[in-house]
Amino acid sequence: MARPEHALIVAAGKGARMNTPVPKQFLEVAGKPVLLHALDAFRRYSKEIRIVLVLNEADFPAWELLRKKHRVDGPLEVQKGGATRFQSVKNGLGSIRDGGLVAIHDGARPLVSEGIIRESFRLASIHGAAVATVPLKESIRRIAGAESEGMDRSQFRIIQTPQTFDVTLITAAYSAEEDPSLTDDASVAERAGHRIMLFDGSYENIKVTTPEDLVIAEALLRARQM
Ligand code: CTP
Ligand code: MG
Repeated sequence: MARPEHALIVAAGKGARMNTPVPKQFLEVAGKPVLLHALDAFRRYSKEIRIVLVLNEADFPAWELLRKKHRVDGPLEVQKGGATRFQSVKNGLGSIRDGGLVAIHDGARPLVSEGIIRESFRLASIHGAAVATVPLKESIRRIAGAESEGMDRSQFRIIQTPQTFDVTLITAAYSAEEDPSLTDDASVAERAGHRIMLFDGSYENIKVTTPEDLVIAEALLRARQM
């Protein structure tokens, strides 16, 4: 039998780089909040997928209103977030008790496609850990004090979400102490000794992080609606 599939959507951040009064995941783009675009992508992928939504406790009332207004349905559990993304993911993993696979996704990525979600589950079911990536478009330099050094961009990848794992594997990895230098789930899994299978994400699958990203997300979402 196929293993149960979960989506762990982390949306408990404060959005310091966006710097809006309302956290960025609740800002409306193309007719609904960023977070709901992300949720809907997982629901389009599967009506049965079990969603764990991690929110800042202060945002619980706002979520209740949104849930009713936008008629969010299907299996969904809300979990309290923590002070860091690591803590939020860890809290969310704590509410998955039946094993299987989990796609960890940023609530701030409204443009994830069903295809990317499907590929992440397919590869995670084979390899245990699968992460969406894209090649760098721009040149990069490594900074060291006043000096800098050109780097070969072909040796690097931008890391996106979903990052999809065997639940047992990633839960064990998150039982280690938090290392602030590890900013994504793949790095946490890797430190626990696991190999990470990379696959092609999409340049559309942006993380809404700074104000201009809202304009880009709106344009990309509208283009899909046409
Ligand atoms: N996140 C979370 N809990 C935290 C911090 C981040 O659930 N304590 C989530 C965010 O809500 C977001 C995702 O992790 O969906 C990626 O994080 P990021 O883009 O860094 O969002 P913020 O931390 O909110 O933004 P910033 O770093 O600019 O403050
Ligand atoms: Mg952050």
